[in-house]
Amino acid sequence: MTTQKHNFYLAPLRGVTDSVFRAVYEKHFGQFDYILAPFIPTIRGNRVKDYHIRDILPDNCNDPKRLIPQIIGNDADGFLLLSRKFADLGFSSVNWNLGCPAPLITRKKRGSGLLPHKETIEKFLDDTVPKLSIPLSIKTRLGLDSKDDLEALIPMFNNYPLTELIIHPRTGAQLYEGTVDIDKFEICLHKSTHTVVYNGDIVSADNFKYLAGRFPNVNRWMIGRGLIRNLNLLKELRNEHTQIHTIYDFLNDLLSADPNHSHETKILGRMKEIWRYLGTGLDESGELGQKIIRCESISEYQKIVDRHFASITAGR
Ligand SMILES: Cc1cc2nc3c(=O)[nH]c(=O)nc-3n(C[C@H](O)[C@H](O)[C@H](O)COP(=O)(O)O)c2cc1C
Repeated sequence: MTTQKHNFYLAPLRGVTDSVFRAVYEKHFGQFDYILAPFIPTIRGNRVKDYHIRDILPDNCNDPKRLIPQIIGNDADGFLLLSRKFADLGFSSVNWNLGCPAPLITRKKRGSGLLPHKETIEKFLDDTVPKLSIPLSIKTRLGLDSKDDLEALIPMFNNYPLTELIIHPRTGAQLYEGTVDIDKFEICLHKSTHTVVYNGDIVSADNFKYLAGRFPNVNRWMIGRGLIRNLNLLKELRNEHTQIHTIYDFLNDLLSADPNHSHETKILGRMKEIWRYLGTGLDESGELGQKIIRCESISEYQKIVDRHFASITAGR
């Protein structure tokens, strides 16, 4: 029997997994095999300015060998412009977002809003793929309203040299509600000739073991909200030792790590976004998270966090 080497990817969570989060996370909890950066919208005009792509610049602690930049949009020229810049910066692939479910995005035929439009996708791929100097991967859902969109697209995707197809088996209409459709994932997996990455609701080592057992040919797994809820999840999936105090140190580091000297409201905003998930992971009643979401200053925030972790240490 061969032992499968599993590769773990950090999912892009816009507003959470920015470059500051990624650097501080990896310092405390270990490295991902790959990281998909939150999306960057296509740019009009003919120049990419640093502020468009600040979050993925290699100076901002980004490792171009493991970080994959992602673009959202349906404009081939804008996509090529950004991809050329990524290639110049040393990135080895670029990802196209066909999964975003936000109505403001899907209404403009972007993200999962493109999935019912096979001809538009095909034309976009014809206009971009031959001109790209780094290869393309796609992150997608099962469809926009129907679970059948992706299945219908896969024979066409098979005609293009994609590095991988990342599938989150929900529809766009589902947003993040309901359950992932594993059976439909399986159908798409078998129809695709590309390497497939599984993404969606991996929240524990047990649930990962189930998925890995069910899909023995998959060895790439992307984790998002489950990781923010349980910051030790990456270690747990790798069977590595975990320690509760690391979470406290991580939170303190994240609070003080801000190369852009952001305003207190922005820093607090990022911490609250993390606590939306982490709160339920640390305290099932949800009270702790609620307290944090209501707090109005960093000092108030810090007091709540200090008290919480002191009580855990005292209770041991
Ligand atoms: C707050 C938030 C922001 C997200 N931002 C992105 C994004 O920028 N690009 C993308 O492809 N997916 C984005 N996603 C989707 C996630 O990458 C992932 O596909 C989804 O959360 C399912 O995986 P999970 O169950 O492991 O979280 C976002 C999801 C959330 C909740």
